[in-house]
Amino acid sequence: MPLNIVILAAGQGKRMASSLPKVLHPLAGKALLRHVLDTARSLVPARLVVVYGHGGDIVRDAVRDTDGSKEACWVLQTPQLGTGHALAQALPHLDADLPTLVLYGDVPLVQKATLEHLIHQGGQGMGLLTARLDDPQGYGRVARDAAGEVVAIVEERDATPEERRIAEINTGIMLLPPEKTPRWLAGLSSANAQGEYYLTDVVARAVAEGVSVRTTHPAATWEIQGVNDKSQLAQLERVWQRQLAERLLRQGVRLADPARVDIRGTLTCAQDVFIDVGVVFEGEVSLAEAVEIGPYCVIRNARIEARARLAAFTHIENAQVGPDAVVGPYARLRPGTEIASGARVGNFVEIKNSRVGPGSKANHLAYIGDAEVGARVNIGAGTITCNYDGANKSRTVIEDDAFIGSDTQLVAPVRVGRGATLGAGTTLTRNAPPDALTVSRVRQTSVANWKRSAKKRTPPS
Ligand code: UD1
Ligand code: CA
Repeated sequence: MPLNIVILAAGQGKRMASSLPKVLHPLAGKALLRHVLDTARSLVPARLVVVYGHGGDIVRDAVRDTDGSKEACWVLQTPQLGTGHALAQALPHLDADLPTLVLYGDVPLVQKATLEHLIHQGGQGMGLLTARLDDPQGYGRVARDAAGEVVAIVEERDATPEERRIAEINTGIMLLPPEKTPRWLAGLSSANAQGEYYLTDVVARAVAEGVSVRTTHPAATWEIQGVNDKSQLAQLERVWQRQLAERLLRQGVRLADPARVDIRGTLTCAQDVFIDVGVVFEGEVSLAEAVEIGPYCVIRNARIEARARLAAFTHIENAQVGPDAVVGPYARLRPGTEIASGARVGNFVEIKNSRVGPGSKANHLAYIGDAEVGARVNIGAGTITCNYDGANKSRTVIEDDAFIGSDTQLVAPVRVGRGATLGAGTTLTRNAPPDALTVSRVRQTSVANWKRSAKKRTPPS
């Protein structure tokens, strides 16, 4: 059904105790308002309007669609005189012939299926998303008559003690009919406990005019939980992470503990993936078939190919790990790193903007930056590519089957030929020819009968 969607996001969010506007706080790595925008988009609205105010353009700029053609219409509400006043600001930008769905910028997890149900039930009348809560405190209550029909929504601060005992609450999310809504909004009054223009007052108007008011419920109450403070934000984060974990389990991913994995972005997994405890995924991550992720890895924007294994405490950002490769424990792959199939990167090895060829090994304590490492290369412990001279970065090339002895410095730009061997401790400043041993260190000598100096004895004073 074609419709307008308005997202109300102008409120201040004082209880977040933060300089960041409330709707920009992240949940699962994504701003609260972004969650709502994405869900709104999934319903393909004819018009999409965001009413913003507190935080001003910071809010708009932070979650603006990069694709200009999909850009929502942003309407500034100053001052903020209540939810009814907020919706009135959006009116000129809506298609007057279509129903309007109202969403809240601080209710991030409402699901598409729940909204579709609300839209379907509401039809050309009014639809309200309501829920029965054990503790309805703080919410507007749904007042019904003896026949069980909705008669009004009463805000808690305006409610009688009797009304406060009603367990059915207004989630705020509603579908409004076309044509009548502008008139209802124009007729709102602020004569209430908060001195605000309440959007919820249109419900009684609809009832008075004989417009049908249908209520629907969300599939789960977490869908309608709002974020007003950091405690609620933390709770909702856990709820949502649990949902994401359950989704992975249903796909056949093995999780050591579904309560101890965090996905802040999009994680795509093939079959037989195993993820140990404490792993954090950020941005876009894909794990191919039978990949194993050890405990406490942090993986951001990465592609891990089939059967690769990341051991504990590995940190990966904007990098790619090839099939059957083994990385970690305690390895760090920085942006622009590509580890080819069957390669091994061991503990305390940092690699940046480099390609490590198939079957090559850097098993301990090394820095590889701006390098091209061929196939079957062995990089000894303590090897460092000196890629930076204080002003410019230069590349190191290590050809296939080279052997780099321990504690070697490769002063870039420099090239190690195919099959070359570098002796331990070499400081390489010129190219090493293929198939030869290159070594640059002081020849070892021994002094026979060498006596160490003895400690001088100071006479007692
Ligand atoms: C509102 C509902 C209440 C419902 C509750 C659910 C009204 C009058 N009451 O109350 O029935 O149970 O939500 O959470 O609507 N906003 C604006 N401009 C404004 C005021 C608010 O954009 O001038 C936005 C806020 O940013 C927020 C939403 O509207 O996203 C709700 O505002 P809020 O002040 O939190 O309403 P509640 O008092 O919680
Ligand atoms: Ca609220």
